[in-house]
Amino acid sequence: MTSFSERMAKAAKKSRIVLALDPVSRKSNLKYATGNIRAVAEHVCAVKINFHLLLPLSTSQIKEITELAHDKGLQCIADIKLNDIDNTNEIALEQLQKMGFDAVIANPFMGTSTLTALVQAAHKKNMGVIALVYMSHPDASEGYGLETSEDMMYRIFFGRAITARADGIIIGATQSEILKEISKKKKELGVPLDVYSPGVGVQGADAVTAAKNGSDYLIVGRAIIEARDPAKQARQMNEEVMRAFSA
Ligand code: XMP
Repeated sequence: MTSFSERMAKAAKKSRIVLALDPVSRKSNLKYATGNIRAVAEHVCAVKINFHLLLPLSTSQIKEITELAHDKGLQCIADIKLNDIDNTNEIALEQLQKMGFDAVIANPFMGTSTLTALVQAAHKKNMGVIALVYMSHPDASEGYGLETSEDMMYRIFFGRAITARADGIIIGATQSEILKEISKKKKELGVPLDVYSPGVGVQGADAVTAAKNGSDYLIVGRAIIEARDPAKQARQMNEEVMRAFSA
């Protein structure tokens, strides 16, 4: 079986958009998730599932969602921002694999060796790890933008993601300067880390600008799923983003 990064690269030929499947209605989370996947599958490369679905749904219901996503050629990313000791991280990984996930988002705050152990455990399962480097929300600077005696926190997290051989990193599309800085550094170092960026649309960032600033994948939730016509919105956004990548 191919690695998570290879599977993403294959899916990226069609789209660079990761759909954040965050329900706004509580009527039926399962129907909501499967309905949205069916509606926009053609225009996205992956789905990101957050606590919106992971907490209310059962393992078999989540599995139904990931199986449908896989049938449609989409990768499945668990957004749990994992940040714990080795043993707990491994158990979380095992459960996520049972649910059909291909990758997990993790917080490098856990430390370099713990993150490395997580990445190794994930790779053994053909899963991937995407490490937070700088989040998209306004007060993200209070953590990721902290200056320590060693360096800025986000640069330390970027270094940990490289050392641990993570598959990707998260930098908010709203953090234009950080995105440009880290993308430049990534190219200089020649490290194969994909940059995933949430923050497009409702949080204020523009997808094409983020792609130009160095994002490899745009994580988009409300701007697509709350649109009057999610399929049309996803198609338009993806066409614009794909044009930016081929320019
Ligand atoms: P919207 O509706 O704003 O949804 O497009 C964004 C989705 O992404 C999550 N989010 C993040 N996840 N690092 C992450 O791992 C981040 O910096 C970040 N910012 C937003 C958010 O929870 C939602 O699912």
